[in-house]
Amino acid sequence: MSDHVALWLPTKRADLVQRAAPDVAPGPGEITVRARAVAVNPFDRYVQAIGDVITSYLRYPVVLGTDVAGDVVSVGAGVTRFRIGDRVLGHAAGLEKGRNRAAEGAFQEKVVLLAHMATPIPDGMPFQDAAVLPLGLSTAACGLFQRDFLALPPPRLDPVATGEVMLVWGGSTSVGCNAIQLARAAGYEVVTTCLPHNFDLVRRLGAKQAFDYHSPTVKRDILAELQGRRCAGALSIGKGSAAACMDILAACDGRRFVAQVTPPASFDDVPPGRGRMRKLAPAIAQMMFGNLSLMLRARRLGVATRMIWGGSLIDNEVGPLIYEMFLPQALARGRYAAAPEPLVVGHGLGSVPEALERQRVGVSARKLVITL
Ligand SMILES: NC(=O)c1ccc[n+]([C@@H]2O[C@H](COP(=O)([O-])OP(=O)(O)OC[C@H]3O[C@@H](n4cnc5c(N)ncnc54)[C@H](OP(=O)(O)O)[C@@H]3O)[C@@H](O)[C@H]2O)c1
Repeated sequence: MSDHVALWLPTKRADLVQRAAPDVAPGPGEITVRARAVAVNPFDRYVQAIGDVITSYLRYPVVLGTDVAGDVVSVGAGVTRFRIGDRVLGHAAGLEKGRNRAAEGAFQEKVVLLAHMATPIPDGMPFQDAAVLPLGLSTAACGLFQRDFLALPPPRLDPVATGEVMLVWGGSTSVGCNAIQLARAAGYEVVTTCLPHNFDLVRRLGAKQAFDYHSPTVKRDILAELQGRRCAGALSIGKGSAAACMDILAACDGRRFVAQVTPPASFDDVPPGRGRMRKLAPAIAQMMFGNLSLMLRARRLGVATRMIWGGSLIDNEVGPLIYEMFLPQALARGRYAAAPEPLVVGHGLGSVPEALERQRVGVSARKLVITL
């Protein structure tokens, strides 16, 4: 069996290293893709720095990465949607509890994908554009369409207007750019927040109105916009967003449900090595206190809330709904944008650690991509 190059996380909290990985033949319902572009997500950093806390089930060595675009090089039994040579994007599922398999991590030259989590991409779409979509898209879809979350009607190319409004807090994030487009495709008007320099972007993606989340009057301004309208709930992305969304929904007509994307504490500053405990302990305490305080707020305001896990759609009807039924046509007909825009930070797997660090420092409406 031949080999390819992968970027390995040899053990918990280790540095990433490039070395050979065996080519793995795709099993039933799987395809293997020669990766041409991958994107980085906060989740990759978290697994590297605190995987022993948040993904303690992982078997090492691990290959990180969820976002990939490339060419199909092999097709498993029972797969009829793809042929060798097809250009695709996919949500690589290797870090999911039910997969837990290095061959399915995105940061390698040959990636095994679940066929129902992959979508053909149009000829004119560069791989680096396609790679921005998977985890942001999946996470937004989990919150909007899963039965135990907002349970919206499926997205369509010809949406039927519901007359209701969806609040997407954090519209310029990767998750937010997808949430705006998906909620519009499901027939909802969208009200969102971001910095003013991203107002044009979120409006282009379909938001009716955008508000600056730094403004001291942001909640009041959104409430004024929602006056007399029925709200279908909220997707909360970004620090402080869940509490703000709860306050707004409690004062509106409609569904009082906040699908939480961002947890109440950040692990961004926790290093994998030296100084880890000094940063980790307060972050865990903040997480526990934040969760408790959100729970009490929700109860006081009569709002329901739940935290999203962006990979859960792999095991339910939402994965195929998005990657098989909606996205292929939406991309082919130019009805869905690959957003936020890619910022290519390097070529080759050796550029991934730098991209992860740039991601930690912060981006504004950009997805950091590495071409392979
Ligand atoms: N639960 C899950 O399964 C899951 C999955 C994926 C991501 N996430 C979480 O979702 C969040 C977004 O991830 P991402 O990859 O989409 O991020 P990203 O694109 O890297 O986020 C960058 C954006 O965050 C925005 N932002 C920063 N602070 C904000 C705030 N307080 N309110 C609203 N927007 C804010 C900035 O917008 P401006 O430049 O306009 O200020 C910037 O465009 C992160 O917290 C991430 O950990 C969770």
